[in-house]
Amino acid sequence: MINPTKLVRYLEEMVTNENVLDLIGNTPLVDVSNLSPNPRVRLLAKLENQNPFGSVKDRIAKSMIEQAEKNGKLSPGQRIIEPSSGNTGIALAAIAQIKGYPITILMPDNVSIERRQMLAVFGAEIIVTPGAEGSNGAVKRAEAMAKQHPDWCFLHQYENESNPFAHYETTGPEIWRDCPEVTHFVAGLGTTGTLMGVGKYLKEKNKGIKIIAVEPPIGERVEGLRNLDDGYIPPVFDKWHGRNILDRKRVVRPRESLECTRRLVRECGIFAGISSGASLAGALKVASEVDQSSNDEAVIVFIVCDGGWKYLSTGAYTDDLDLAEAAAEKIIYF
Ligand SMILES: Cc1ncc(COP(=O)(O)O)c(C=O)c1O
Repeated sequence: MINPTKLVRYLEEMVTNENVLDLIGNTPLVDVSNLSPNPRVRLLAKLENQNPFGSVKDRIAKSMIEQAEKNGKLSPGQRIIEPSSGNTGIALAAIAQIKGYPITILMPDNVSIERRQMLAVFGAEIIVTPGAEGSNGAVKRAEAMAKQHPDWCFLHQYENESNPFAHYETTGPEIWRDCPEVTHFVAGLGTTGTLMGVGKYLKEKNKGIKIIAVEPPIGERVEGLRNLDDGYIPPVFDKWHGRNILDRKRVVRPRESLECTRRLVRECGIFAGISSGASLAGALKVASEVDQSSNDEAVIVFIVCDGGWKYLSTGAYTDDLDLAEAAAEKIIYF
């Protein structure tokens, strides 16, 4: 026999979510100090791969769409258009499908097959642009199409302030709530949204916290990431006075990113994408610089941007490292 008092208490305690969008954010921090090269340094990974559509970009996709709805830029049934070679496109397509917006994603023709498959799963129309033109080619084509179709909604993550705002309002506060001892924050640099939003929030809480960007060397590729000196500075970086937020940049090569991606999975059981390996590689460099002979102690939080599923076809986890490195070079990632 069911005890009615117990049942009422159980139902009261049950947490229900209105829909899957409520599951975006509130991702866990996991201690991976076993990877730390320095006993005075704790390393914590923020697992953004646990978002429902698989990446840190779920946050900005939700925030850009909801803000566009609020300010009247996006109305029921209106088409969304966005250039994206990966996570942002997938998250936007998923949310657009739930909310009933048609969506067109422009992407270079040489992105990994899993990305196209995910976009197809979420019902996006895909327009491919020449791989040789990279993601900047897709951005240009999207800008031209948006001009031809002023009735479409172009969200443009590189200049849309809802991107850094999403991190200012959610990712940053979560890190501060879960780990007020944080001394360093390390993340890869793509649109710069994560670094701007989290960096601004954490510095407002404690201006001593160091914000460190991870970039590939100019001309080399690490998925999801770009080098600010490669000729394009995302407008959100200037709008948020990025030079006042970033304390340092660390350059991480594709091979180190792959090596650290493998360490995450083998030594911590975290099956992450390759930019997460880049963030870890940056965090390890920062950890090595903390003076072991002083009383300094550091707590470094770094971002695990997405899971490894979309990169399986690249051989990143299991191929010979030289082969995996060569394969990674061929793929356009941001
Ligand atoms: C896999 C991955 N990692 C990192 C980033 C960088 O994040 P942000 O755009 O917030 O700078 C991106 C952005 O495209 C990404 O797709």
